[in-house]
Amino acid sequence: MGNVIIVGAQWGDEGKGKIVDCLTEKSDVVARYQGGHNAGHTVVIGDEKFILHLIPSGILHKDKMCIIGNGVVVNPQALITEIKELKARGVVVSENLKVSKNAHLIMYYHEILDGWKENEKGSKKIGTTGRGIGPCYTDKASRSGIRMHDLFWPEQFKEKLEANIEDLKRTHPQNLEIKRLVASDIYNAYISFGEQLAPYVDDTDITINAAIKNGKNILFEGAQGTLLDIDHGTYPYVTSSNSTAGGAMTGLGVGPKCIDEVLGIAKAYTTRVGEGPFPSELKDETGEDLRAKGAEFGATTGRPRRCGWLDFVVLRHAVRVNGLTGLVITKLDILDGMEKIKVCVGYKYKDKVLTDFPKELPILESCEPVYEVLDGWKGQNTAGVRLYYELPQNAKNYIRKIEKTLEVPVTIIATGQDRDDIIYR
Ligand code: GDP
Ligand code: IMO
Ligand code: MG
Repeated sequence: MGNVIIVGAQWGDEGKGKIVDCLTEKSDVVARYQGGHNAGHTVVIGDEKFILHLIPSGILHKDKMCIIGNGVVVNPQALITEIKELKARGVVVSENLKVSKNAHLIMYYHEILDGWKENEKGSKKIGTTGRGIGPCYTDKASRSGIRMHDLFWPEQFKEKLEANIEDLKRTHPQNLEIKRLVASDIYNAYISFGEQLAPYVDDTDITINAAIKNGKNILFEGAQGTLLDIDHGTYPYVTSSNSTAGGAMTGLGVGPKCIDEVLGIAKAYTTRVGEGPFPSELKDETGEDLRAKGAEFGATTGRPRRCGWLDFVVLRHAVRVNGLTGLVITKLDILDGMEKIKVCVGYKYKDKVLTDFPKELPILESCEPVYEVLDGWKGQNTAGVRLYYELPQNAKNYIRKIEKTLEVPVTIIATGQDRDDIIYR
């Protein structure tokens, strides 16, 4: 299969977990490169459902190596819990899991700061997952972050931690939660996390490059999505990492020439959790129907996802900034039973129709979606279909429309939650 980057082409929750699980079969290594436990990647196998937050979705396959790269922000307590929960369900998590020495750690105070910042923003809040992601990447960028390997250098760790806490108390004198922080308590807790995670900690840059050199197939598992990328998303309503394909290079320490394919995952419609612009959002009954039928509730926070029609302006942007070589369309089955299906082909702004994703928030917030109306396949079903030729003709037309508009082949189609509800073309 070669080395393939899996990237969300919309605002996250496109079904990356399911697709990574399916493609792990043909891979040797599955590696996460950014984000943290803000991600919720669902894999359904028969009547078992797994939601992965930090550990790559490939872990459910025995004998595959799973890597958490340096670009991921790791809450060690969340990682320990995830490992324990998977083990309790019979999943093998041992030498097959490697965590980068250089991964930055989410500290207790990052979560406090995340909540506090959201509160301060009031009506302009981002709607984060509250997992401390933004503050942890802030410390990384401002060179005061604490990395996984610091836990094994106690003196150095203590010094950095004390300096950070002192700084926080000085800069947030009114914040009671910060006032109550005790450096020695945090130190003891994190030293214990380090002891528990020690067997997994690794020079992942060396490990992954050795695997590449040995001709192993690597699957790079992106979290979030293109429109949540800190550079290419709907800033400031984004996450704090590069969720686009470029993040795979820096987030694992591999060179761009090793990549064979970049697959963008997109739902057959669009969803978004949290605040921020969403031009093709449906605030009506159709949007509610999509939410109900698609069970559109966040896998991490349980929040209802905002729903809307498929948006070609968004996808064109995703094709471009990720260099997509193929698209995967998931949840086609959720459109079953619809008489008509709309696709957003442009944004009307003043007297113009924009077909390239605008960068300016004021434009995004005031533009109107321009729709094309397509015939649905009411009365016929795509749910559970596993062969392309068995899809209803209008479902095939829908896929063709996506390919023609975006000039990228749709190589995989998902038609249900289960691992086996998938069409490879
Ligand atoms: P991720 O974050 O991109 O991995 O996506 P999530 O797991 O957060 O959300 C996707 C949801 O859609 C999960 O509940 C999946 O089980 C489900 N899902 C994925 N593909 C399909 C599909 O083709 N059909 C249906 N009905 N559900 C799907
Ligand atoms: P997966 O990997 C959907 C959203 C949050 C919020 C914004 C910033 O499952 O697709 P953060 O906590 O990252 O600072 O929140 O990003 N967000 C996601 N939305 N899927 C995700 O992950 C997300 N991770 C973060 O809702 O709007
Ligand atoms: Mg998700």
